Amino acid sequence: MSANWTRREFVKGVGTAAGALVLGGAFAEFLAACGTGGGTASNKLEIFSWWTAGGEADGLNEMFGIYKKKYSGVTITNSAVAGGAGSNAKAVLATRMQGGKPPDSFQVHAGQELISTWVKADKMEPITSIWNSEGWDSVIPKDLKTIVSSGNDVWSVPVNIHRGNALWLSAKASSAIGAGASNTLDNFLSGLGAAKAAGIKEPLALGSKGNWQVTMLLENNIVAVGGADFYRGLFNGKSSWQDNSVRTALTYIRSMLNYVNSDHATIDWDQAAGRLKAGTSVATIMGDWAKGYFTANNWKPDTDFTGIPSPGTTGTYMIVCDTFGLPKNAPDHDNAVNWIKVCGSEEGQAAFNPKKGSIPARTDVPANIFDSIAQKFITEFKNASLTPSIAHGSAAPEAFVSALNDEMGQFVQKKDVNGSITNIAKLADQYLK
Ligand code: GAL
Repeated sequence: MSANWTRREFVKGVGTAAGALVLGGAFAEFLAACGTGGGTASNKLEIFSWWTAGGEADGLNEMFGIYKKKYSGVTITNSAVAGGAGSNAKAVLATRMQGGKPPDSFQVHAGQELISTWVKADKMEPITSIWNSEGWDSVIPKDLKTIVSSGNDVWSVPVNIHRGNALWLSAKASSAIGAGASNTLDNFLSGLGAAKAAGIKEPLALGSKGNWQVTMLLENNIVAVGGADFYRGLFNGKSSWQDNSVRTALTYIRSMLNYVNSDHATIDWDQAAGRLKAGTSVATIMGDWAKGYFTANNWKPDTDFTGIPSPGTTGTYMIVCDTFGLPKNAPDHDNAVNWIKVCGSEEGQAAFNPKKGSIPARTDVPANIFDSIAQKFITEFKNASLTPSIAHGSAAPEAFVSALNDEMGQFVQKKDVNGSITNIAKLADQYLK
């Protein structure tokens, strides 16, 4: 029986490991005050992210547009590095941060990816005073604030909430694998079988370049098989990675691989979504940034395609939360502070999220500006059992995430369920204890 996990418990889960890495608040404030290059007038702003695909790039551009209207004298450099989930960007960022050449502000996931890396390494400036002066306590849920906080400080501003457990079906899918027939993993697999029998050779589009997309299949399938409580227990020691649920989740991935495009290892998530448009595939499992991709490519939600919870995960929400932070020694510090303000503003989030595919982090952005799928997700989010994503930085430290991605890359090659279970359990022992 999986009890609903409240927002508060979600935060406790995400924060457990993060909480161990707290910086002394006052000391951090002091260092930040010494470290910033603030004060010097500048007409530049460099923003770092991995948003280059259709939808995500458009959302970012919306925020740039708002910034340019407000601060017309500032020229923005968009330093986005292509590669979904930051598969290339994170390494570029690490080199720059370690080399003392940070961008003015960068995209980072709420939770472990932020707190146990850059905050722990003392490379960030707290945004607590911006948070307070902008009054975000009254419009951003306290639980989200907690995830981007450690010690007495807030370290980044959430711009959205993405749903990682989503299944996208093209209209062409409806005869073979209708939305109604995809509520369980078994039904979904039968639907894929029917689609294949009807002549669609590669019904399930997968882009596994970088392997994180397979980690998403794993996390979604674990929730589907073991339930949300079991999934969350994997990060607080209450559930075992050697449990049968993990084994079954992997077995379902192996079955899904019978229906995917043969070139999956060479393409990313957006190219996989493109296969639905091209009609060579009819389904893909991906976060709702895929909806941003479809709408950017002129597909109409609930007409040309639809989006539902990934098979077996109805009632749960796999949280992926993008935020922007302020590195110490940001070269154009004051302009970066204004960027952070745009990211947290109602105007910024109302412009960004409909294009990005996500729902807003702020609670005061009107739901009626969103498409029908997002409106459904906004409603479902309110009562869903929340689970933090591994693949997108919230549930576990980076070292575990990248080792697990590698293992899932091995899994799609070898399809060795027992071998992968043993290896994943070892990684969990090494990085999650
Ligand atoms: C995620 C990120 C999303 C989207 C996706 C694909 O990590 O949170 O905003 O960009 O990667 O690149």
